[in-house]
Amino acid sequence: METERLVAIFGGNRGLGRAIADHHRAAGDRVVTTWRTEPGGVGPEYRCDVADPDAVDATFEAIEAEHGPVDAVVVNAGFAHRNLAIRASPASFREVVDTNLNGSFFVARRAAQSMVRRRRGAIVFISSVSSLYGTPGVSSYDASKAGQIGLARALARELGSRNIRVNVVAPGLLDNWSDVTPAGPGWVAATPLKRAGTLDEVAAVVHFLTTDRASFVTGAVVPVDGGFAMGIG
Ligand SMILES: NC(=O)c1ccc[n+]([C@@H]2O[C@H](COP(=O)([O-])OP(=O)(O)OC[C@H]3O[C@@H](n4cnc5c(N)ncnc54)[C@H](OP(=O)(O)O)[C@@H]3O)[C@@H](O)[C@H]2O)c1
Repeated sequence: METERLVAIFGGNRGLGRAIADHHRAAGDRVVTTWRTEPGGVGPEYRCDVADPDAVDATFEAIEAEHGPVDAVVVNAGFAHRNLAIRASPASFREVVDTNLNGSFFVARRAAQSMVRRRRGAIVFISSVSSLYGTPGVSSYDASKAGQIGLARALARELGSRNIRVNVVAPGLLDNWSDVTPAGPGWVAATPLKRAGTLDEVAAVVHFLTTDRASFVTGAVVPVDGGFAMGIG
């Protein structure tokens, strides 16, 4: 029985990250979260832009000093710029990759440095099935989210012998984005379960992957997408 684990959710102030944090808290974990623009107002919170590797390192130093070693890390921070690739500026492409992919590397790298010493740990990246399918208008997002998968698979092989698991959760369309995503109605129609998912449906799978119940699961890409992208990737 795992008790008193410390779980850090990067991008845990709102949306899916908040749901993931709530789910872990409800399961009895100690949870710390990070925010970039506005704190969420629950539990210990740290300001951290994941695109800044120095900020990521400083955040880990503060978390470890104040709460002890981190058992599990979820990298949820992410966003999309919507524009066709031929109209996208190099700066906008870089901005998305800096947060979604480079940020995942900065967080996982620093987390693993401590986990290696303890010979245990779990890391989960929140990707998207959009990266497996390919969605017009979000090339930088899809590239960054596909990059998380390659990163996770490499890390899973590098860190497996130290009992550190690295997995990816790839949500489909969720109900907090179904109204704002231009592709929303089309995605629902193409989803076998014929609806958007809830934040809690994703949070439950993320929670499973951070716990020892998933002790033989690493390098996995777990779609939570109502069947939208089955067989792809
Ligand atoms: N909702 C969906 O349908 C869906 C589907 C597939 C995948 N996803 C993925 O799920 C994750 C969460 O999505 P969501 O729906 O909850 O989106 P959201 O409501 O827009 O929340 C985005 C989160 O990412 C954080 N964030 C963004 N850039 C950051 C940065 N540079 N440094 C630190 N934090 C940063 C935000 O923090 P601030 O509030 O402080 O900016 C916020 O916590 C994302 O990675 C997204 O790609 C979502």
